Amino acid sequence: MNPPLYAEALPFPLETSRWERIPLVIYREPRTAARQVAAEIAGLIRAREGEGRFAVLGLATGSTPIFIYQELVRLHREEGLSFANVITFNLDEYYPMSPEQAQSYHHFMRQHLFDHVDLDPKRAHLPDGSRPRTEAARVCAAYEELIQRAGGIDLQLLGIGRTGHIGFNEPGSSRRSGTRFIHLDRVTRQDAMKDFQDEQAVPRTAITMGVRTILAARRIVLMAFGEHKAAIVQRTVEGEISPEVPATFLQDHENCLMVIDEAAAAELTRQRTPWVVGPLEEMGLAWNDAMVRRAVTWLACETSKAVLKLTDEDYNSHSLQDLLAEGGNAYELNLRVFRQLQNTITGWPGGKPNAREQPRTLRASSAAVFPKTIVVFSPHPGDGVRAIGGTLTRLAQQGHAVHLVYQVSGSNQVRDEVVERYIDVLEHMRMNPTANCDPARVRAAIRRGEARVAARVCGILPERLHFLNLPFYDAATEGHRRWSDEDVDLTARLLAEIQPHQIYAAGDLADPHGTHRQCHEILTAALAQGAREPWFTQCEAWLYRGLWMAWPIHEVDMAVPLSPVEVECKRRAVAQHESQKDIAGSPSEDWAYAAGRQFDALGLSDYEAVETFHRWT
Ligand code: F6R
Repeated sequence: MNPPLYAEALPFPLETSRWERIPLVIYREPRTAARQVAAEIAGLIRAREGEGRFAVLGLATGSTPIFIYQELVRLHREEGLSFANVITFNLDEYYPMSPEQAQSYHHFMRQHLFDHVDLDPKRAHLPDGSRPRTEAARVCAAYEELIQRAGGIDLQLLGIGRTGHIGFNEPGSSRRSGTRFIHLDRVTRQDAMKDFQDEQAVPRTAITMGVRTILAARRIVLMAFGEHKAAIVQRTVEGEISPEVPATFLQDHENCLMVIDEAAAAELTRQRTPWVVGPLEEMGLAWNDAMVRRAVTWLACETSKAVLKLTDEDYNSHSLQDLLAEGGNAYELNLRVFRQLQNTITGWPGGKPNAREQPRTLRASSAAVFPKTIVVFSPHPGDGVRAIGGTLTRLAQQGHAVHLVYQVSGSNQVRDEVVERYIDVLEHMRMNPTANCDPARVRAAIRRGEARVAARVCGILPERLHFLNLPFYDAATEGHRRWSDEDVDLTARLLAEIQPHQIYAAGDLADPHGTHRQCHEILTAALAQGAREPWFTQCEAWLYRGLWMAWPIHEVDMAVPLSPVEVECKRRAVAQHESQKDIAGSPSEDWAYAAGRQFDALGLSDYEAVETFHRWT
């Protein structure tokens, strides 16, 4: 007998329908979630096969469904799943776009599914983005007609954009919209930049199935993985139905399931504020230190009060009666959390030499070692200084041997104009024959050069810079290639050579196929290899969040405050990465600045900026 579908989802015993308007299942890992969705699709295909009928699938592209397609290909190869009775319709295609182009969804589908299974190419349909604009309306109407003729869609797979789009139905799309030509939102185009060399190359328009077309499917499975989807998942599931967030129309569908991972679920009421849903023990949770910290900092935020000013009434009126009963009174609880937060703050992240009192963030065994050998991992060359440039500078100034490891070349994030400028200079100076001015190599060289100068601004010695150039990263298909043992071995060898006392690494849980998450997985695997080495047992590891956000305050285990002078120095280091497509606004500095304001609001200290870390155990 087949195992029941969606069986491995994380259990949740309480009723959530008061908040959640779409049924959903949450998985720890995107891969497990994807296996379950693939099992449902396989079940449908086999059932239809048994009835001598076609299974009609609606398919999506993007990074979300990649694991599903991998699993379907595995089922085909290893378990004889045949696609001979399958008809597929993809949601969308860029316009203008020829099916042969590497960024086309036609190409994506061939690469990830069609070329690996026995689906008849004549039964695989995608909107045609290569026809003249004047024919677009006809192309769209014909697509709708084809779907009708196939008997409608049995199961529609969906991802979700940060704008809340499904397919390419951007904010403002009508519930009654059919397949049509559409202008892409700015955020969507920014997200698509990872697949194109340059912003200018991202198409401004597309052809997409409409909201009505999608809702007509008999079954819909929407997936979302990664913390960058958490906000839009919450809005889709818990918010009012509105054309401003087209995915909310799914609330009206009678057979829709959302399949998400823990990172994408983080903003749902049941995850973010479980005490609002019911007693913690009924959810298998407890009022431990971490939970108390989470609740109290949340309460301070909700009431716009400093932690030490929260009252019994504040706790009572915000569903925190149980906590109040357990903690005695507001005064005790406030003080407990205030002290914990205070103890995370240190200006000596590597420890203080010859001091009687060491920062409470350090383990006793680690505090005694001075100077320390420290490795800071930077996924792309700019990430390290952008995320924790202030801490880097401090560690170097405080006498530690700081190594900066750049995990991938970052070559495909260099703006085209910058590459042209460099090639022009190189050719002009005749330093290199034209043959050596290969744009791909120039891109990588530009990033290396920028990284070197930025590291110097932070006081890191040039001999301590390491460019790993992990092979999984491929300029043409960033984010769509999985890492392998080769990447892990390269990383493990470097760690064995340096034997660090402290490691700082990026720990963001965005897109599972994205570069940061893959770099994180590679480092995790490399550390597992080093687990039996003597250096490893002494080593302390800290995670910075990434470029786009700080750790939520209750997850901060170490906070390094920056003075205005240090912020200025960091700004100078960040500015060296001028070839970057998205340097404008310097988000890393913003979040460190925002973290400073948050510490201030909680009634701690008023710092210019704060870089925050989570202990990696
Ligand atoms: C793709 C599509 C889009 C994506 C969405 C999420 O065919 O229609 O709606 O599903 O943009 O993209 P990823 O999965 O790359 O985050």
